[in-house]
Amino acid sequence: MDAGGADARPRAPLAAIWGAPTLADQNPDENIVEVSLTAERSKVSLDGKEIDVLAFNGSVPGPILQARPKQRVIVHFRNALDEFTTMHWHGLRIPAAMDGSPHVQTPIAPGATFTYDFVVPDAGSFWYHPHVQTHDQVERGLYGAIVVQGDDDPVYDLERSLTLDDVLLDEAGNIAPPTISPLTGLSGRWGKVLLTNGKNSKGVRGAARKGQVERWRIVNSANARRMALGAEGASFRVIGADAGLFADPFPLQDLLLPVGGRVELEVSYDRPGEAKLFIKDVDERFTMFTVDVADAPETPRAIPWPKLAPVVAERPVTSTFNMAFDFLQSGNSTQWFVNGVSDWKEPILTVKQGATVKIRLSNTTPGVEHPFHLHGQFFRVLDAKWPGLRDTVQVPALGAIEIVAYLDNPGLWMAHCHILEHAALGMMTDIEVLPTGAAAGTGAHGH
Ligand code: C2O
Ligand code: CU
Repeated sequence: MDAGGADARPRAPLAAIWGAPTLADQNPDENIVEVSLTAERSKVSLDGKEIDVLAFNGSVPGPILQARPKQRVIVHFRNALDEFTTMHWHGLRIPAAMDGSPHVQTPIAPGATFTYDFVVPDAGSFWYHPHVQTHDQVERGLYGAIVVQGDDDPVYDLERSLTLDDVLLDEAGNIAPPTISPLTGLSGRWGKVLLTNGKNSKGVRGAARKGQVERWRIVNSANARRMALGAEGASFRVIGADAGLFADPFPLQDLLLPVGGRVELEVSYDRPGEAKLFIKDVDERFTMFTVDVADAPETPRAIPWPKLAPVVAERPVTSTFNMAFDFLQSGNSTQWFVNGVSDWKEPILTVKQGATVKIRLSNTTPGVEHPFHLHGQFFRVLDAKWPGLRDTVQVPALGAIEIVAYLDNPGLWMAHCHILEHAALGMMTDIEVLPTGAAAGTGAHGH
């Protein structure tokens, strides 16, 4: 922890982030961010109605956790729910004991507290959510954004955090109980009301002036909804994804944001009027965010792009592995399988720290895609549609995709589908990374 020591380069102040409150840092030490987070029952207003939710510090989404790379983050977490939970810091390559996996951490009892304490390694946009009864707790409101501001990040006129979700309501306008039915067991739970930062997306608006340039940090926190994003009314570049900013941004065209994934856009307001972010479904289009752009004589400046080295350099593959996803539905019960096993009780793969494993993810199900997520590590996708490093990738229906996973972070790491109903019904495994020095296991366990 010697930030500010040898490297005395002045850092830009932390950006003010539009979209959600930020967790207050209670520690004056500039190397430590210390915050308090309580999960509790709460009420929020949605379309003019008070609805029952689960919330962090009373808000949906939860407050933004903001930090810088190499800072130590201490989260005083209190479980004020009447059920068990844990907190997972999706995308952060932190020690396994702090990752919130219930395969590693004993879940936190109702009324109990736990201190999460870790050093944040990478800049980028991440998010946090529980990992117990995840399909239920996330649907009812427990999710929040994490913003880690890199020292070389470009400075924008404004940064916005846009956490996109959907929610399924009952007739009274409350969240319908997130139970799993044969339909949601198969397709995942798709809400009918789209949410941006916890509000009905239709009504979520911002303001800007022609000539301004912004950074949008977008998270897909839905249970199951893939988001084909589009935008109009300004000039948009895709500047980053799961593992922070890209070395080479590119103009926005078709962009698929899987459940759990993140994407970052640079928005240059080059004309007055309305700029919009939307989701294109097969025959419907949902506006997720609208910006009223006031006229002004200025034209947007070009943002000088920093020289960014990827947080993990490319390197040769050391082994290969296959993960095949499949399901079985009989009567009212659905089960999902990875390599023929539902809900693995032992690691599906054991490797030594530093292994570089090419994993083929294949999906035998027609009409159902799987957003595959690996905890605590990054991977590259061997497909130009997925530039940069990732922790989540969409596996197409009746198709396959290959990733190269850089298994540098020792521990037991969940690898699962981020359609939360699929994970609950068995699409859940672990990859074990043995610390250097320890003997490697036998590789894949036979099944
Ligand atoms: Cu977003 Cu297992 O996590
Ligand atoms: Cu799935």
